[in-house]
Amino acid sequence: MAKRALITGVTGQDGAYLAELLLQNGYEVHGLARRSSSSDVNLSRLQWLGIEREVQIVDGNLLDLSGLIRTMRDVKPDEVYNLAAQSFVKSSWQQPILTGQVTGLGVTNVLEAVRLESPGARFYQASSSEMYGLIQEPMQSETTPFYPRSPYAVAKLYAHWLTVNYRESFGVHASSGILFNHESPLRGIEFVTRKVTDCVARIKLGRATELRLGNIDAKRDWGHSKDYVRAMWLMLQQDVPDDYVIATGRTTTVRDMCAIAFKHAGLDMDKHLIIDPALFRPAEVDILLGDATKARQKFGWEPKITLEDMIVEMVEADLKRLKK
Ligand code: NAP
Ligand code: GDD
Repeated sequence: MAKRALITGVTGQDGAYLAELLLQNGYEVHGLARRSSSSDVNLSRLQWLGIEREVQIVDGNLLDLSGLIRTMRDVKPDEVYNLAAQSFVKSSWQQPILTGQVTGLGVTNVLEAVRLESPGARFYQASSSEMYGLIQEPMQSETTPFYPRSPYAVAKLYAHWLTVNYRESFGVHASSGILFNHESPLRGIEFVTRKVTDCVARIKLGRATELRLGNIDAKRDWGHSKDYVRAMWLMLQQDVPDDYVIATGRTTTVRDMCAIAFKHAGLDMDKHLIIDPALFRPAEVDILLGDATKARQKFGWEPKITLEDMIVEMVEADLKRLKK
């Protein structure tokens, strides 16, 4: 019998790549998606991967407990991947309450639905390196203390501890993946890597002249979403649930990431890059650098795609999109 997975946030970047991986692994994949007036646009990432017909879409919202309970009862998943969230850090200062309700409390709804209707299911929570915020150790691992710096990070920290708590209180097979930034051609356009690759492609095609960014001194440990969804799946294949950091162990400034994109396009970055103070955040996470030793030792996870290869792939994908 094929294993059955339920992915919340299936319309997002990671949801799409995870659905693709699980289908390749022979799973029956169900994806929770919020109803929208433009469901064709909503499924665009699954369409990009050519899997929109293979994923069984279920109407649902993290804020609606009764719907989640019904979904668990109907789908009876073996594995639940909770990827849904208001995931854009900058928006979380603009919409702190919504972010808390969806990204934080919404996870309680999913865990309650699992506990009540599917107690044998394995559960994955999409936790974040943003929880380290004002870093307390130069390299962040599972034992590094947290210091969240945005409403988003505070909400994720609540969800992380709730996942640990349901594991310890109710014996749910619940794991929390503390994933560092990961990107791809399917990344939302508001995140800095995709903003850069899309804009570089526009400049290359003569459709834009400038790229406006905020804090380009910020450093991130960037990996590829395809590598990171593999880690999510591996976590749920372990007999004992646990928490794992997933990262590349290399950190790069926004400026240097940007330079990779401009160089690939054969453009002079200094002629186009403008620093816009309006794009700075109320509180910044200056640097993130993850230590994924535990994941490597426990289940042999390692990233395969370098930052350079990923940025080149993203610029090429944006050129292709814009030329269409
Ligand atoms: P994303 O592209 O922003 O996708 C977020 C998903 O959540 C979308 O499918 C969105 O649906 C859905 N969603 C939002 N609010 C919802 C609600 N109220 N009910 C149901 N679904 C809702 O994010 P991502 O990059 O794939 O990241 C996946 C998860 O990993 C997120 O939880 C994110 O916070 C976390 N994470 C990401 C990274 C990273 O670097 N990418 C790192 C660490 C953790 P719509 O399509 O309708 O908007
Ligand atoms: N988005 C954006 N836009 N970021 C900019 C810009 C800009 O114009 N200019 C500079 N930055 C800086 C931000 O200030 C931040 O320091 C860095 O670029 C990365 O920003 P994002 O790409 O928006 O990602 P993030 O690090 O805030 O959050 C992402 O990674 C987290 C994991 O650490 C998101 O995917 C979160 O959902 C995820 O949890």
